[in-house]
Amino acid sequence: MKHLLSIEDLSREEIDSILDTAVSMQDVQHRDVKKLPTLRGRTIINFFFEDSTRTRSSFELAGKWMSADTINLSGKGSSLSKGESLRDTVLTVDAMGVDLIVIRHPASGAPKQVAEWVNCSIVNAGDGTHEHPSQALLDAYTLRREFGDLQGRHVAIVGDLTHSRVLRSNLLCLRKLGARITLVAPPTLMPSGIASWSERDGFATSHDLDAVLPTVDVVMMLRVQRERMAGGYFPTAREYAVTYGLSPRRLDLLPDHAVITHPGPMNRGLEISADAADAVRSRILDQVSAGVAVRMSILYHLLAGEGSAT
Ligand code: CP
Repeated sequence: MKHLLSIEDLSREEIDSILDTAVSMQDVQHRDVKKLPTLRGRTIINFFFEDSTRTRSSFELAGKWMSADTINLSGKGSSLSKGESLRDTVLTVDAMGVDLIVIRHPASGAPKQVAEWVNCSIVNAGDGTHEHPSQALLDAYTLRREFGDLQGRHVAIVGDLTHSRVLRSNLLCLRKLGARITLVAPPTLMPSGIASWSERDGFATSHDLDAVLPTVDVVMMLRVQRERMAGGYFPTAREYAVTYGLSPRRLDLLPDHAVITHPGPMNRGLEISADAADAVRSRILDQVSAGVAVRMSILYHLLAGEGSAT
């Protein structure tokens, strides 16, 4: 594996291998001394052209805990603001001899394009509305810890599907792991062409959240991405919360064993109520915790290669 650009590029075996390695990486989080020698001498640049709390800090921790040298760059603080092109910027960083660039960019496909320009490894940390593969892997890790094998488990993915790169990566990843998926959204927030897509890829769609909730093992709530919405996708925030939000009333519709996930950041009171976010069955902070272990595993697979000691 040279790059992590899309879940589409990963086989079932590669996904299992990343998740298995993450299990041993998670032990490091609970040690007094959080340090492995695995990536000593390796250099990683986190290059974020969009804001991030979880992804950027967990990739930075993942690199540091494996003894890599890590540097953070943002679009605003780089020479891009002086007119330098993305190509010249990443060629400049590559020429310094870095081993891996973690990149988040608002344009779908930007990490793939960058991977064609440079010699180092590239990790897609979220590109436009296309993919967020490390998020899907950490979600799968969290659910695998909960349920073991995900074969036949029913996952409802709910909310702003049109603008969600998390949806696309999770759909691909969970299908590869054998989960059954239902997408739930208002008609205005269902991606166009979803009918032919769902037929081909074997998942269901619904506009009726109340009908789906009693049948799920997992309800994955997605953020309403107001920053990507130019027009009115729903009449009011209140109407969205009433129709598609995971409200206290809807918590009672879930089976006893079902869990709640959300990739964050959350809009409390819009797609998810505080009662749901903080419920005993919420796995939202477990996802954050898994994010470091899974990203350690991703860096290990890209930079340390098979057979290196953890
Ligand atoms: N889930 C996620 O990508 O969060 P951040 O934007 O905080 O990285």
